[in-house]
Amino acid sequence: MIKLLSVVGARPNFMKIAPIMRELNRFPDIEHCLVHSGQHYDDLLSGNFFADLGLHKPDVNLEAGSGSHAVQTAEIMRRIEPVLLDYKPQMVVVVGDVNSTIAAALTAVKLGIDVAHIEAGLRSFDMTMPEEINRKLTDAISSLLFVTEQSGVENLKREGVPDEKIFLVGNVMIDSLLRHRDQAAKSPILDRLGVRRNGSACRPYGVLTLHRPSNVDDPKTLLGILTAVNALAAEFPVFFPIHPRTRKNIESFGLMRYLNDASAADRVGIVPMDPLGYLDFLSLNDHARIVLTDSGGVQEETTALGVPCLTLRENTERPATVEHGSNQIVGVKPDRILAAARSILQNPAARRSQRPPLWDGKAASRIVAILHEQLRREAPRVSGVRS
Ligand code: UD1
Ligand code: UDP
Repeated sequence: MIKLLSVVGARPNFMKIAPIMRELNRFPDIEHCLVHSGQHYDDLLSGNFFADLGLHKPDVNLEAGSGSHAVQTAEIMRRIEPVLLDYKPQMVVVVGDVNSTIAAALTAVKLGIDVAHIEAGLRSFDMTMPEEINRKLTDAISSLLFVTEQSGVENLKREGVPDEKIFLVGNVMIDSLLRHRDQAAKSPILDRLGVRRNGSACRPYGVLTLHRPSNVDDPKTLLGILTAVNALAAEFPVFFPIHPRTRKNIESFGLMRYLNDASAADRVGIVPMDPLGYLDFLSLNDHARIVLTDSGGVQEETTALGVPCLTLRENTERPATVEHGSNQIVGVKPDRILAAARSILQNPAARRSQRPPLWDGKAASRIVAILHEQLRREAPRVSGVRS
């Protein structure tokens, strides 16, 4: 038996691991253990995604919880080490760029267990971003690097990574999107929000998500963004599923007045709501006139959907979303955000459905085929686990 252990922890991890889990089930000689770090623990950021994505419950939940970067990362490392020593996987699979990713990868590699990194090679070249640190460090200690887009291959080669570790396989997040799009279309969210009645065409609306510390931990930046989006929302609603980090800051910075809590069906303004489940959020994005976001995953999903996206950051680690998709990097200055949004709304382009190469719904099957082939060739590394 080949023994694999995968680690998830935060919201964007679940839609990346779901297609991998499905593929692993097709190989009777692979035994798999799913570990949840507990970095995200609320149902709205974690539990609900397991149901939406048809994922079974994690085999182990480390319940590491929130904390400073050091505390959270250290806590996950401390709690995952005995699990690795007990389970003795041949390889640990990590996804994305969150603290759980680097914590699990670092613990595994120090025990002599190989690491496979899914979504390797992305670079924003902005080391003030916690995720950039996590990505670079995880790539540096991983044996297999599964890359979503060509830029990632070039970044890794520039950093001196040997070719044989790099696999351009496509995007598992888009595997999930393509698999769940029809199911998401049955979500009642559009009717519930009053933008669609009795199956009629949707009236225009926008979607906003914000959670990057550089945007939401700084009162001036957050105020600027909310001012711009509020002006845009004078004519149609902008739905804003609010990440807990962001909600806490909006409240403590005294910015609640920018949110419109009216429940009328024809409301305008920024309409706050709890974070949405995967299917509801996919349905909402699929019909939006415009999406404004600082999320990494949402840039990719709007690219696959062909929905215009404004990225409220100065950079992106996902340049394929700009080259092949409908994403524009507009920064956080209110004038620039508004000008770009108005230009999109005044010149509605035909919806593009061009996707970057290999964003075809089959990334997970490529990854698992490679993992299987590599691990089948190796003798189990159980005795290689260092204590
Ligand atoms: C984390 C990731 C980020 C990812 C985001 C996805 C890191 C460094 N950051 O950011 O890359 O884009 O998840 O959403 O790993 N909280 C809750 N309930 C929860 C979890 C957190 O209320 O279930 C609150 C806590 O107050 C916590 C804060 O959110 O302190 C931040 O959570 P944390 O996981 O540290 O970082 P995120 O901002 O969620
Ligand atoms: N998402 C969701 N509900 C929301 C906001 C986001 O289901 O209210 C999904 C989104 O579709 C994508 C993922 O969460 O699949 C992106 O996660 P997030 O923006 O938290 O993190 P990032 O991608 O920036 O790391």
